[in-house]
Parts: sequence; structure tokens; C-alpha cells
Amino acid sequence: MAKVQKIKGFADLFPEEAAKFTYMEAKAREVFSRYGFGELRTPILEKTELFQKSIGEDTDVVGKEMFSFPDRKNRSLTMRPEATAGVVRAFVESKTHQPGKISKFFTFGPMFRYERPQKGRQRQFHQLDVEIFGAPEAQADAELILMLRSFLNELGLTKLTIELNSLGCHECRPAYKQALIDYYKSKDKENFCEDCRRRMETNPLRVLDCKVPTCKELVQDAPVITDHLCPECETHFADVRAILDGAGAAYELNPRMVRGLDYYVRTCFEVASYDIGSQTAVAGGGRYDGLVKNLGGPDCPGTGFACGMERLALLMDEAELARPDFYLAVVDDEAANEAMLFAQQLREKGLSGEASYAGGSMKSRMRAANKSGARVCLILGGEELANNTVTVKYMDEERDQETLDRSLYLASL
Ligand code: HAM
Repeated sequence: MAKVQKIKGFADLFPEEAAKFTYMEAKAREVFSRYGFGELRTPILEKTELFQKSIGEDTDVVGKEMFSFPDRKNRSLTMRPEATAGVVRAFVESKTHQPGKISKFFTFGPMFRYERPQKGRQRQFHQLDVEIFGAPEAQADAELILMLRSFLNELGLTKLTIELNSLGCHECRPAYKQALIDYYKSKDKENFCEDCRRRMETNPLRVLDCKVPTCKELVQDAPVITDHLCPECETHFADVRAILDGAGAAYELNPRMVRGLDYYVRTCFEVASYDIGSQTAVAGGGRYDGLVKNLGGPDCPGTGFACGMERLALLMDEAELARPDFYLAVVDDEAANEAMLFAQQLREKGLSGEASYAGGSMKSRMRAANKSGARVCLILGGEELANNTVTVKYMDEERDQETLDRSLYLASL
């Protein structure tokens, strides 16, 4: 019989890969809680109009990449392509906002975009997402970037570049848009792709984000937003930078970064890795002050970011994560029962590891210990059994092996 295969761009996560995801989630919970964020879980399915109203009809995500379908009553539903829209919807519906109140949420889970699958790009992928509501201040943006940086550092990822920009606000952006339109007009319209020819007047910033090579080239000399910021946006952006500078957080200014979603104003940022192929963005975010109101809520500012877990996983060393604490090598059949009891006591102490159920040669046991990646190999043979001891072989360190009293060893853990 023909076997049923998984859907293109969707992946199964077996233990080695899943361990990385679990580790990332645990680390994210730990770090994000330190900054006062609480977990929010929102549905994977939402009404299609939610994404149309928030991400923007002109974006690739809404225009080309959504998994949308009618339900049994012919209502259009969409598998969420990102988390922010759903979090904002939940926040608005909760009616918990009061003027001056700050709410901080994080959420994890699968997202869906109908993109061409390649390394680091899938149709089902996972995000770690963070949002702050009620804080218009630059300090909130800077705090988010510093938290993201700490989180990535604690995952052991330091070879990353933070790119930063300000997209202006509803006050200064219209003049910038006009400057862009004038620039596009000075070029031959026919040279732009069909999408850009349409977006040129309706959503001129989108053209800057077009992936088509000819469009990319045409926008090389386009005016940049940072030359058009109003004084308030200037100050806001300067404050974000001053805090990052003060914290010693390196970043690069990228005045051409517009992000792929329409809701951003002022601060926006991306974190890139150049070690994982062409899909370099491992995280992205920014401020979206008009979005809550746009989705029927109060006039409440918002700012946040999301990390792509598949891309972070590409950078993580799976061998290091999956390492068990011990391998218990039984080298004499007589010691097998005692070894099983000892392994049980080790696990009750919170250690991870396996025991070889029966006795075997020292050579084959050492091979298994090496293969398991364990940090220590605990050897139990006839002599150890008779003397209530265990021989501890340290697998990484240049330390000699030692034979210790078994109860004292347990007590030392
Ligand atoms: P985004 O830049 O569209 O932002 O996505 C965030 C991250 O999700 C990307 O940097 C990337 O690592 C990952 N990602 C996106 N698409 C894929 C894919 N097809 N396969 C694998 N990974 C992918 C947002 O989604 C915003 N909601 C972030 C945000 C939160 N802004 C404010 N709050």
C-alpha cells in the first residue's frame, strides 16, 4: 500500500531535534520571566480578516503565504502566519487594558507560511514571541533588544548581528512616502516587478522589501527614512541607541530595513546569523503603536519580537544538549542487580543516564560510554560490588579515574 507522507514544508521533530526546542523553550521561559513577562497561549486558527487588518494586504505574508480555507459554514479561517496579531486580538478581547498599565506576554508555538521550503525556511515553523502593551517609551524597545540578546547569549549564540532602524511615525512617514513615490517616478516604471508597480503608490515602503533582483537594484539609491524622521522619532530612536550603547550591545544601523509586515512604526530590528545559509534572520521585531487601536482596542502602544526556532536550532550544538550525566558500565554479571538499583538512585538525584543491563567486557562498555556522550562513566564490577564502591571515569577532563565509596558518591551529588 502507498504510504501517506507528511505535507511539504512540514517536519517531524525526533528526540535529538526536539531536545533543542524543549531547551530553547525552557531557557526562554527562564529569561523572559526574569523581565516580568507572563505566558499567553492563543489559538492556531484565527479569522482571516485578523491578519488582513494587521499584517497588511500588500505584504507577501498576507498576499501569497497564508494557509487559508473556508470552514464548514464558509467562513474564511487562517492558520496563523505569526503570533502578534493573535496576541493583540486576545489582549483587546480581554478588556484588561487601563491607561498607564503595562502588560507583558510571551507565547510559543507553530506558525504557518506557504513559502518555498529551503534550509531554515519551512511552511510550519515555530516562534518564541514576546509583546509589551502600554509602553510608548524607547526604554521598552531597548529592554526588548537587550532581553533578546541575553536570551541568545544564554543559548550560547554570540556570533549574531543586531540590525536596527526607525520607521518613523504617522506624523513623519507621509512625507517620506512621498519622497519614495517621487524617487520611483524618476525611474522607469516598467523595470519594477508587477507587484511593485502596484505597490509603488499604495504602499511605497513595501517596494523596499521586494526580493526581486531588478527591484532590489532599483531601490539601491532610494531615500532613507532616517533622513525624514520628525524630532520626536529622532529622540525616541536616539534613546534606544543610547541604552544599547550604555549596555555595550553592538548593533548595525540599517536604514533600508522595513520588515515584512505593515504594522511597524519607529523602532524595528532584526538579528542575523551568517552561519545558517541564505535565511539569515533568526529574530525580528519592532514597535506597532497603531495596531491595538486598528484591531478595535484602545489607543495603546505595542512593541515586541519573535525568534524563529528552526533557525536557532541550526546554530545549536545538539551533541552538547543531549549529553547524559552518566553511563553506568556493568563489567561483571554479578553486579547487574546492584547496578540497576544504583542507576535508579542516581536518577532520583536528578541525573540522567543509562545502565548496561548486564555485564560485559571493559572495552565494549567504554565504547558504549563514549557513544552515549556521557560526562562520566561509572564502572561497577565484582570488586566494586564487594567493597560497596564505584569507579568514576571522567570522560572530558584530564582527571584520573577514582574509586569511591558508593554511598558517599551518592551523597556528594
Ligand atoms: P518575522 O520577521 O516575520 O516577524 O518573523 C520572525 C522570525 O520568524 C524570523 O526572523 C525567522 O527567524 C522566523 N521565520 C519566519 N518565517 C519563517 C519560515 N518560513 N521558516 C522558518 N522560520 C521563519 C514576525 O513574525 C513578527 N510577528 C515579530 C514581532 C513580534 N514583531 C512584533 N512583535
